Amino acid sequence: MSTAVENVVEVSHVNNTYIDNGLGIFSKQTRRQVLHDVCLNIRKDEFFGLVGESGCGKSTLANAILGLIPYEGSIKVMGQERTAMNRLTFSSNVQAVFQDPASALNPRRTIGFTMREPLRAHKIGTRAEQEAAVGSMLKKVGLNETYASRYPGELSGGQKQRVCIGASLMLEPELIIADEAISALDVSVGAKILNLFQEIDTEKDFSMLFISHNLDVVYYLCDRIAVMYRGHIVEMGTAEDICQKTTHPYTKMLMAAVPGFGPPTTKTIAETAEPLREEVPGACPFYARCRKATDACRTCPELVNTAPAGEEEHLVRCTLAKS
Ligand SMILES: Nc1ncnc2c1ncn2[C@@H]1O[C@H](COP(=O)(O)OP(=O)(O)OP(=O)(O)O)[C@@H](O)[C@H]1O
Ligand code: SF4
Ligand SMILES: [Mg+2]
Repeated sequence: MSTAVENVVEVSHVNNTYIDNGLGIFSKQTRRQVLHDVCLNIRKDEFFGLVGESGCGKSTLANAILGLIPYEGSIKVMGQERTAMNRLTFSSNVQAVFQDPASALNPRRTIGFTMREPLRAHKIGTRAEQEAAVGSMLKKVGLNETYASRYPGELSGGQKQRVCIGASLMLEPELIIADEAISALDVSVGAKILNLFQEIDTEKDFSMLFISHNLDVVYYLCDRIAVMYRGHIVEMGTAEDICQKTTHPYTKMLMAAVPGFGPPTTKTIAETAEPLREEVPGACPFYARCRKATDACRTCPELVNTAPAGEEEHLVRCTLAKS
């Protein structure tokens, strides 16, 4: 049986390079490639996790999907090519929730004003209807209507993030991009926010790109996961395959970093965090840190599908992976 899968986001062969001007006036410009031929799709109503260590390019990919930075390749959101020019067209369909809720909220505006803003900007409803919608959204995100008259400074970090999530949902977007949305919160507050995403998911239809450096967090929340290392997707598949049939040495290393998480075997074959050998241009991106590297790894491997025929794809970029 093959049914057409509707993709909310289609990222095809995306590359991104930052130009570094250096700090001194005589510094030479250097180009640094951050994203390398990234391809992934986010399906309708799917929670898609993007995981990888700091600096690997997660936010760069999110910003490209949001239309905030230039890139090479193609990014389609709801079937339309993404460009910086058409950013406004997408503003109601794609919303973002960031790591620091405090900086996302205007300290001089009440919570009610901030949450009503998207409705006002898109001229949706009368003022009374907008206020009623804010009250009902505050309840959905686990706060009550009285919070509408409060200022951000009166709220805890977790409550502020609830407000940001509520504000992002006001226009009923097709896609929410949550970039490290719980990393600044205490573990127990973060867990409640994860539960909130799940509760809202049962009530509303939307897709989410959930970005985190924690594999156990994305496993808890997401249907599929992509693991990124130095701007390359190194493993991608269902959350179960990524965390129960972990194949890439780097994913195993991420797994080993979370105590008590994942199959016991991943603990004994954890890779090293320190470089073991010199970088080789064009090699597997994990070459310098991988205990299993051989000469074959001096050429960057393609992603291969390791899943049995007929099953959901489980893509792995490693010379040891067998299709
Ligand atoms: N505007 C910029 N100019 C130059 N380099 C940048 C710029 N933004 C990001 N970078 C570099 O690109 C790389 C990827 O950054 P990015 O913020 O996408 O990583 P990340 O995976 O989101 O990390 P984190 O988990 O810390 O948020 C980093 O090395 C970063 O220093
Ligand atoms: S391709 Fe080689 S270096 Fe890269 S992850 Fe696989 S074994 Fe390690
Ligand atoms: Mg980031």
